[in-house]
Formats: sequence, structure tokens, C-alpha cells
Amino acid sequence: NGLNALAQTQGKTYFGSATDNPELTNTAYTAILDNNMMFGQLTPSNSMKWDATEPEPGTFTFTEGDQIADLAKTNGQLLRGHNTVWYNQLPDWVTSTAWNATGLTAAIQRHVSTVIGHYKGQVYSWDVVNEPFNDNGTFRSDVFYDTLGESYISIALIAARAADPNAKLYINDYNIEGTGVKSTAMQNLVTSLQSQGVPIDGVGIEGHLIVGEVTTTIQENMEAITALGVEVAITELDIRMTLPETAALLDQQKTDYQTVISACMAVEKCIGMTLWDYTDLYSWVPSTFSGQGAACPWDENLVRKPAYDGIVAAL
Ligand code: XIL
Repeated sequence: NGLNALAQTQGKTYFGSATDNPELTNTAYTAILDNNMMFGQLTPSNSMKWDATEPEPGTFTFTEGDQIADLAKTNGQLLRGHNTVWYNQLPDWVTSTAWNATGLTAAIQRHVSTVIGHYKGQVYSWDVVNEPFNDNGTFRSDVFYDTLGESYISIALIAARAADPNAKLYINDYNIEGTGVKSTAMQNLVTSLQSQGVPIDGVGIEGHLIVGEVTTTIQENMEAITALGVEVAITELDIRMTLPETAALLDQQKTDYQTVISACMAVEKCIGMTLWDYTDLYSWVPSTFSGQGAACPWDENLVRKPAYDGIVAAL
């Protein structure tokens, strides 16, 4: 048994984990990652991003992305592509060029077509556009929006569909776990794209959450999004705490993982769940959120925490 086996028994497409290339030399880590009863899906946490795949204009490097795509294939796991258009982890040439609309449109089309085309047939779903919104539901100001307005989103989605017609195309964001202005903005975007005939198949709900602060509206929110005719997935789940970890915090974290996974299980079109790496050893949290950590269901020694049992209880 394992998390993916349990999730699939309950009708879900996968239970997965993010991973990153430097981690793959740790054989104790890969022994768990590679088990497709435990994880039925992988997401590369960095190696398919724009800075990694097109560091110079028109020059593409896929070595690291291929390593994770090949690993998923070898292991019999699905692959989520992450991501093609995002304000962060862009190479300097994208952020420093004085773009006009025609030039940036062509640059987006070349990037999306080449990256998604390279992985054609290997990817279950792509985060085509990542984190387009501010927390107040307005569009994030970045090189894409400032040059093209919201049309950059349809430009990317149309190029993505042409590059791999079988990949599900997602828009992915954080702080859309529960109902609220940011989720409403995402729903309005989906509706707008659909009315224009722009391809959109799914909304990725990241799930970078905080112990003791998990919203009670996750299921209601997922139902509102899927009612639009798109699927949802929890794409980057971790639930962090202020360190040091205590027995009480670990117990609350178990409850919180169970809450999130239960919401997905209760919504038919919530098709899968992905941990933003399964172990505290490789979590992005401590280096990003000062004083916080211990966000994953396995600890730094690859030992399962109470959170693991919370997930099992929900599956
Ligand atoms: C993070 C990675 O985990 C880190 O290794 C990297 O330094 C920064 O990006 N939302 C996303 C992910 O969509 O791409 C981010 O991943 C975490 C937040």
C-alpha cells in the first residue's frame, strides 16, 4: 500500500510529489520517491522553468527536465509540467529586454511551443501560466502583463494546446485554496477564457499552507471551480509551522493535512494531489519563510510524521 495506491483506489488519478535534480543522488530518498504505490506522479520543482530551459533567447536546454521526465517514465508515474509562463525564475534576457507587444508575443510562443513540444506525449498536465494574480484578485504586474495585458494568458494557452494537444492545460496559483477574492478572480478568468474559446482544462491550487490556519472552505471552493467545467488539482501541498516543532504542532499538522486531502477526496473533479516534496530534508520552506519549516509528511530523516497518518485517514 501507499498514498498513490490508496488515492487511485478511491478514484483519483494520482497522489504525487515534487522533486528536484540534486536530490536524485540520495538513494534513500529515491527509494521512496520511485515507488509508484506511494507516488504516482512527479513534478520537477525547478528544472522545467524558463530560466532552466531557455537561459538565452532561442537556446533550449532540457537535460535536467529530461532526467525527471525519464524518471517518471521509468517508475510508471505521471508527469506534471511546471511551468512555462511565470513572473519568477525568468532569465535576465526576458526581464531586461524593452519588449513591444509583437516581440514578447513571439518570445512567449517560441518558449511555450518549444518546451511543451519537447515533452509532447509525456505530460499529464502543464502549469502553462503560473501565479497570474495578486492576493486582492487583480492581475500581477510583471513583464507579461505590463506588455500584453491579460492577453498573455491566452497567447500561452493557445500555443500550449498546439504543442501538445493531449496535455491538460492548467493555470496554477496560491491563496486560492478557499473561497475569496483571489479564487473568484481565477474563476472569472476561466469563464472569460472559455467564452473566447481559449483552451483551459484545469486550475492548480498550490496549497502552501500554515499549520492551524487552514480554511474550512476548500471543498466549497473546489466545487465552485469545477462547476465551471474544469478539473482542479492540489499541486504544491505543504503545511508549514513556526519552528521548533512540538508534539502539539505535529498533531495539528496531521489534522490539517487530513482536512486538505479530505476536501479533494470529496470533490469528484479534484483529480490529484501533489506534495511540494515529501520530506523536510528538501522542502523549500525554511529557506523561503524565515523561522518556519517542518512542512512535509516525512521528516528530515525520511521518517513518516503524524501528517502521513492524517493523509492516509483522508484517502
Ligand atoms: C520553488 C522551488 O521549490 C524552489 O526550489 C525555488 O528556489 C523557488 O521556487 N510556487 C511555485 C513553485 O509555483 O514553482 C515554487 O517552487 C514554490 C511556490
